[in-house]
Amino acid sequence: MFLLQRSWTEMELLPLVCFCLLTCSGTTFGDEVTKMILKENEDVILPCSLDSTNIKSETFDWKKDDQKEVFMYQNGKLYNNGLSGQDPQFKGRVFHFDDQLQSGNASIFINKTKVSDNGRYSCIFPHHQPRTRSIIELIVDCILKDRTKENKPGSCPEPSVTNLHETNDQALLECKLQGAFPKPKVQWLDSDNNTVPAEEPQVTESRGAYNIILNAIVKRSGDYYCVSTQEEICHQVDRRIQVILQEKTTADPVTQGSNTGWIIGVAVLIGLLLVAVGFACHFKRKSNIGTGSVV
Ligand SMILES: *[C@@H]1O[C@H](CO)[C@@H](O)[C@H](O)[C@H]1NC(C)=O
Ligand SMILES: *[C@@H]1O[C@H](CO)[C@@H](O)[C@H](O)[C@H]1NC(C)=O
Repeated sequence: MFLLQRSWTEMELLPLVCFCLLTCSGTTFGDEVTKMILKENEDVILPCSLDSTNIKSETFDWKKDDQKEVFMYQNGKLYNNGLSGQDPQFKGRVFHFDDQLQSGNASIFINKTKVSDNGRYSCIFPHHQPRTRSIIELIVDCILKDRTKENKPGSCPEPSVTNLHETNDQALLECKLQGAFPKPKVQWLDSDNNTVPAEEPQVTESRGAYNIILNAIVKRSGDYYCVSTQEEICHQVDRRIQVILQEKTTADPVTQGSNTGWIIGVAVLIGLLLVAVGFACHFKRKSNIGTGSVV
């Protein structure tokens, strides 16, 4: 009775363990995947080796997502030298380490990774078992930058900036974006990268794209930037506008320079006043003495 119960629990456990092995490893059995995470524009070395055998006269092949040809080495021949079929995405960007071949090193170097390099890379020795010697999951995180030229035309327009109205001490600036998708975050910044308080943005939507107007009032001369950010596509673009106001000098009361100026000015004035009073008293006394004898 006791034995029977025990074997039942084991049989119940077995499928559970198998299930966990399958799902927890995240991949098919046998293939170990190395995850590498980097930022766009960084270089990377994808590691692969065939033990420590000399592979100078061997063949090895790097594929991306099982289909794109990344790199091929065949007894000294390469894609840019005797072999054809390399995916245009990798032309002139991928190199092997020739001086390391004798120690079985089939690693490749990828120059300046792009977001489109994201994917699974496998290093294959077609004449060996197992054929696949390395699998790399490459994750390239994008960085915020101006992608106006990379993206679909129109989906990330550049802002246009205008000085709508200006008086002696302030200017009303307008930033306008038309047909942006995904919806951008728009803001005004000064030349120190501080956010300039702006009005509520006016947002309209037409045919799935956004038109945005953001107005801000500025009270100082300087350069101002309207910045449009589309996080989802890592796109950021800005436009600058220069504002020159006829500011009065008194509109700038609390800078250190003018403070010390004031203090020195007042001190000098008090000093002069004291000297003047001193002189006045001295002469008054003299003239008092002079006339005193008469009275
Ligand atoms: C293969 O060569 C590269 C480049 O020199 C090096 O970074 C890497 O460590 C080498 N790998 C092995 C297993 O020796
Ligand atoms: C990477 O590519 C750039 C051109 O895009 C080139 O100037 C640079 O020398 C390359 N770096 C290496 C290590 O090959």
